[in-house]
Amino acid sequence: MLPKLITSLPGPKARAVIARDDQLISPSYTRSYPLVAERGEGAIVEDPDGNRFLDFAAGIAVVATGHCHPKVVEAIQEQAAKLIHMSGTDFYYENMVVLAEKLAKLVGGGLPGSVSRRVYFGNSGTEAIEAAIKLARFHSGRGQFVAFAGAFHGRTMGSLALTASKSTQQKGFFPVMPGVHHVPYAYCYRCAYGKSPDSCAVECVKAIETELFRTKVPAQEVAAIFVEPIQGEGGYVVPPRKFFDELRSLADKYGILLVADEVQSGMGRTGKMFASQHFGLEPDVITLAKGIASGMPLGAMVARAELMDWKPGAHASTFGGNPVAVAASLATIELLEQGLVDNAGLIGARLMARLGDLPQRIPIVGDVRGLGLMIGIELVRDQVTKERAGDLRDRLVQMCFERGLLVLGAGPNTIRLCPPLVINKDQADFAAQTIEDCLRLLM
Ligand SMILES: Cc1ncc(COP(=O)(O)O)c(C=O)c1O
Repeated sequence: MLPKLITSLPGPKARAVIARDDQLISPSYTRSYPLVAERGEGAIVEDPDGNRFLDFAAGIAVVATGHCHPKVVEAIQEQAAKLIHMSGTDFYYENMVVLAEKLAKLVGGGLPGSVSRRVYFGNSGTEAIEAAIKLARFHSGRGQFVAFAGAFHGRTMGSLALTASKSTQQKGFFPVMPGVHHVPYAYCYRCAYGKSPDSCAVECVKAIETELFRTKVPAQEVAAIFVEPIQGEGGYVVPPRKFFDELRSLADKYGILLVADEVQSGMGRTGKMFASQHFGLEPDVITLAKGIASGMPLGAMVARAELMDWKPGAHASTFGGNPVAVAASLATIELLEQGLVDNAGLIGARLMARLGDLPQRIPIVGDVRGLGLMIGIELVRDQVTKERAGDLRDRLVQMCFERGLLVLGAGPNTIRLCPPLVINKDQADFAAQTIEDCLRLLM
């Protein structure tokens, strides 16, 4: 199915919803354009006026199996009729154990003899991160953290301290959790050390030891390094493999835990179940949310079993691992394994084949990068100076909406493509063509 617009946007019914929303809903939300969603099916979203959109935003990289996949809906309905809530923190129920077994196996690569894992369940990405922060402190007895410029790990006081994406997310909230130190990410298109990926010596990781640990933060006080295998909100930035090799060695050298935040990059989006697998990265802790349950609220923190030495009462959440969300997650993972992860790889490659050479054809495109269905297109005013073109990016997002394609920005001047993993070739081609047409109009 492809988009079909039958009214001007927003249509009358959508406008009425927006007017009421404006009176009541927290103004802290960031709506890029006036889309009102009434129903969704696969990669298509319909508004109350009957306009159909192709969803390349997927509820911010959440609906991995598409909107309302019949198998996910069935799993939710069946579970809701049986048991909606019990609180896994105080009682037992089997489907939470089944999901933990599944996640532990997936994170361990499913290999016999691979390290055993334990799982903590929360309701969101930020809760998975908070759990990782607390576990790292508890287990190590150390208080400080390293994170990366451009990172997004969430908006609660611990995860917000790790976040360094936009200062509006921090403004007015100081002090957040102390003890977090940000260093440059392997953003090779804009290398902080002026190097190129082929010849660099991974200066961005070396500097953690030679600068940060030498001058300011004793390595022995660092509990964990938090890293997104592909930076999400920061602009869909894909580092080279050697970045992770160096990071792993550094962490091992100083007994620091390496936490891979796969909240956005996980659950098949990149063409592998976890983006870490593209880089041979074996984190000590992995955080998951977003795509894990196709839109039901669920987050998970999966750690090497021996790290989870905290005691009853140390950490929990009333709703974490709710049976209905867990049922949705089990159905989601089955669909991912039965073909959607492969589809993400295949359709992602098709999109990259269409879009990868945009910088050669369109001067306002500086860089196109991504893995699977996690693709970023960075807009610049000039390919040589790489001056960021945030205004053009915002206009591109708007123009796509006006043509029935839902995309979101990431970072100051990048659009991200993060469709549901169910998209087909025609939908991918429509999106690629629409984006290219809009870019040409912006040139
Ligand atoms: C990498 C990453 N970590 C954490 C989060 C926070 O997730 P949530 O919004 O579910 O709290 C996000 C959300 O965008 C994310 O992309």
